[in-house]
Amino acid sequence: MQIIKTVKEVQDISRWFRGECKSIGLVPTMGALHEGHLSLVRRSIGENDRTIVSIFVNPAQFGPNEDLQKYPRDTEGDLSKLSELQADVVFMPETEEMYPEGFSTSIDIGPIGKLLCGASRPGHFNAVATVVAKFLNIAIPHRMYLGQKDFQQTVVIKKMARELNFDTNIIVSPTVRENDGLAMSSRNAYLSGEERKASSILYKALKLGQEIIMSNGLDDLSAVKKEMEALIRSEPLAKIDYVKVVDPYNLEPVQRVLFAAVICVAVRIGNTRLIDNIIIEKN
Ligand code: PAJ
Repeated sequence: MQIIKTVKEVQDISRWFRGECKSIGLVPTMGALHEGHLSLVRRSIGENDRTIVSIFVNPAQFGPNEDLQKYPRDTEGDLSKLSELQADVVFMPETEEMYPEGFSTSIDIGPIGKLLCGASRPGHFNAVATVVAKFLNIAIPHRMYLGQKDFQQTVVIKKMARELNFDTNIIVSPTVRENDGLAMSSRNAYLSGEERKASSILYKALKLGQEIIMSNGLDDLSAVKKEMEALIRSEPLAKIDYVKVVDPYNLEPVQRVLFAAVICVAVRIGNTRLIDNIIIEKN
């Protein structure tokens, strides 16, 4: 496994892989790797000749009052997990390598970046789109792997890649969960024991929403939100940021499910903001 810190070396190695007719899979991450990340790495290794994993805590996507400073970092653990899986390349740039002095270009993803999490995280999705566009130009992958856990992120990145004509197939993989349903997340490390127990309420609420939609038909979603919110409020440590049923393509709220919808939730447990979602499909 090669550990690379410069853009140029990754570009050189990717070009060489392509010259050898090897397919390349890219898994972009911010490190503190858990089974959710590793499921993407395994899938990439299974579907490509070469897998590049990037580890970069992207300062641009953190707001001024967010957790950039205390975001979990575990370089040694990450590298040992990736070498066990036999990833081919780990790209771990310093901030200056990604954003040299004077850097000022950014992608504006448009109104979709202001919906859902974008409402409370201004600029976040533009910064995600920008850094991922850079990774696509650096690793030149045939396929890139993203987790469904960050549903809005998958929609934003697919839109950016489509509209800017990146020649990479974007693959979204299912959310990996703990035994009680909590979606794995690097931020789960912030939770105290009591908060950790309380955080299973997100998945319980999503399953409740799914159940109501499936049993009451797909034409009236008004009750769904209310019942989910009531369940989340029954957990004293939980504070709702949003509960929304949205169209999976444009993330706009929907009143009824035509083909598919996504229930998205963002909830604060203590000081930790957790997100999760579930896709509802009409058979
Ligand atoms: P990060 O939060 O480290 O996540 C990296 C990738 O792992 C994302 O595609 C995310 O959706 C996926 N992932 C996280 N938890 C998961 C889970 N429980 N199951 C399945 N996949 C999961 O998302 C980012 O980093 C950054 O925004 C990034 C795309 C790297 C840009 O900086």
